[in-house]
Amino acid sequence: MSQLPIEQLEPSGFSDFLLYLNDHLSDNGRGDTAYFQPLPRDESRFPNDKAEAFQTGMRTPLGMPGWRRVWVARDAHGRIAGHIDLRAHPERHAAHRCLLGMGVDRDFRKHGLGQRLIAHAGHWARDAAGLAWIDLQVLSVNTPAISLYQRSGYVRTGEIPDMFLIDGQHFAYTSMSKRLDNQQ
Ligand SMILES: CC(C)(COP(=O)(O)OP(=O)(O)OC[C@H]1O[C@@H](n2cnc3c(N)ncnc32)[C@H](O)[C@@H]1OP(=O)(O)O)[C@@H](O)C(=O)NCCC(=O)NCCS
Repeated sequence: MSQLPIEQLEPSGFSDFLLYLNDHLSDNGRGDTAYFQPLPRDESRFPNDKAEAFQTGMRTPLGMPGWRRVWVARDAHGRIAGHIDLRAHPERHAAHRCLLGMGVDRDFRKHGLGQRLIAHAGHWARDAAGLAWIDLQVLSVNTPAISLYQRSGYVRTGEIPDMFLIDGQHFAYTSMSKRLDNQQ
């Protein structure tokens, strides 16, 4: 399982990816899974109005506003086991940096896939895209993700206390960054 191939998602694969993503998001704050998206449990699905921008971003040339690239790991049956995406910052004059999002399907966690996905995206960002930094934000309660990011060389740069009030609970938001020329 740890060596599942990782490939870039083509825009034509988006609808298949959306099925996977909505199933993944249904875990948000349920059972043993910490909240990992700032969304209420009953609204934990990919918002329809963002789908078009997401797909457009996959076709947008690197360095242009709104660009996005997505990679998925698939099992032998073609089922998506995990994903990672990098995208442009919305701010101007930050084109040497990007933002990261990721997830691993509940059936494939704790086998090192998360770490492989981060390494894959990091190498692409540095070697193919020539970027200098990857940034991310994570709910501070999401200790599995924070631990993975720290292990992968991301450094905590700050925390906004009480950033979200979701399902009656208060959540802090942690920012982390990795400088790519420090990558091993
Ligand atoms: C956070 C997340 C991506 C981690 O993915 P993952 O594939 O489980 O990550 P890894 O397997 O690389 O590492 C997870 C743990 O498994 C351990 N592990 C890795 N390979 C292992 C193996 N073969 N046997 C036992 N444990 C193993 C790692 O050491 C790590 O332990 P730690 O949490 O104590 O540090 C996953 O839990 C997830 O998708 N969560 C929900 C979505 C989410 O949080 N996304 C990020 C939002 S910002």
